[in-house]
Amino acid sequence: MNIFITGGAGYIGSHTCVELLNEGFDIVVADNLSNSSQVSLDRVRRITGRDFPFYEIDICDEDALSRVFEEHSFDGVIHFAGLKAVGESVSRPVTYYSNNLISTLTLCRVMQRYLVHKIVYSSSATVYSPDNPLPLREESKLGCTNPYGWSKYMCEQILRDVAAADRRWSALLLRYFNPVGVHPSGLIGEDPRDIPNNLMPFITQVAVGRREKLHIFGGDYDTPDGTGIRDYIHVVDLAKGHVAAIKYLQGFTGVDAINLGTGRGFSVLEMVRTFEKTNGVNIPYEIVGRRAGDVACCYADPQKANRLLHWRAEKTLEDMCRDSWRWQYNNPHGYGRDDGGNVTLH
Ligand code: NAD
Ligand code: UFG
Repeated sequence: MNIFITGGAGYIGSHTCVELLNEGFDIVVADNLSNSSQVSLDRVRRITGRDFPFYEIDICDEDALSRVFEEHSFDGVIHFAGLKAVGESVSRPVTYYSNNLISTLTLCRVMQRYLVHKIVYSSSATVYSPDNPLPLREESKLGCTNPYGWSKYMCEQILRDVAAADRRWSALLLRYFNPVGVHPSGLIGEDPRDIPNNLMPFITQVAVGRREKLHIFGGDYDTPDGTGIRDYIHVVDLAKGHVAAIKYLQGFTGVDAINLGTGRGFSVLEMVRTFEKTNGVNIPYEIVGRRAGDVACCYADPQKANRLLHWRAEKTLEDMCRDSWRWQYNNPHGYGRDDGGNVTLH
């Protein structure tokens, strides 16, 4: 089976390329490299020993996208391409809505024209309203607090409407919780362009000496240690969830939303302590005020994914911490300076 992957040079996309290639799928990748480096794809080739075509194009460019569909025939699409920084989406809403909505609409139009009707979409736990009881279930109330979240919500709705209008379509809306960790080879990973917004890349940059200390946003939440709780999921587990989703899509029509999480929450302090203990490094931190828009606690009910996709997250918090550190230690400047990703850490 040949799968088209948008945003495949990015963090989750590159890990999913590895798992698909390892499972024998053929892939074609498109990415405009706005938040990634082509080096990630060279590393995917190195890990898997397999080659695949790459198109440096913007998915919003219908002519360029059509050329890819002209040159290949696809059995399905995984749509990762999108902008994802919550804070930036608040200050640049038009950029976020344009990129995330137009890329999805253009992709739907081209897929329709080339009779490709199966799509896996990268959605997010951020589509759930913050006032839901936990754990979050697929039928929990939806509602967002920032333009990024609304763009994910709107793309879900677009795909629901497309599938309702034409019964040949099938779409799985995968709602990720908090992806962290990297491939155990330490060759591919998360490489934020600026100051990291997310917890794990900030911790690893403190550990490697690129940042002085971690600011913990809020120590007065109604949680056992006062810090925020999230459902961290190893990106390799997440990537395997996409392989399971693509397989499931072959016998499915319609549209469905599925959580990809572990079902277990950990606090920021638990994450810091686990990182320190697993890797034998010290993470200086300071507890500062809460970050606007953060909730105290968020974790998934992953039973639907267990039931329908026969998938469950297997990796531990220690695995997430160990693998993230291996990547950062071997690639202190991310993909910025390709040092060959020599893995020396054990
Ligand atoms: P990422 O930024 O590493 O990957 C996204 C990729 O899409 C990048 O390589 C970027 O260059 C590319 N891209 C963006 N706009 C494009 C366009 N118009 N045309 C072509 N390429 C384009 O992010 P990621 O963490 O791998 O996230 C992948 C997807 O998962 C995104 O849609 C994101 O919203 C979603 N998601 C991520 C998280 C998370 O915490 N990482 C959580 C929930 C959902
Ligand atoms: N945190 C800190 N210091 C930091 C960064 C984060 O204390 O420097 C804390 C946050 O306050 C939160 C936890 O660490 O309690 C996790 O924060 P992240 O920024 O890593 O993740 P979020 O849960 O805020 O958001 C992430 C993605 C969103 C996605 C959401 C899905 O960034 O895109 O998960 O649940 F929508």
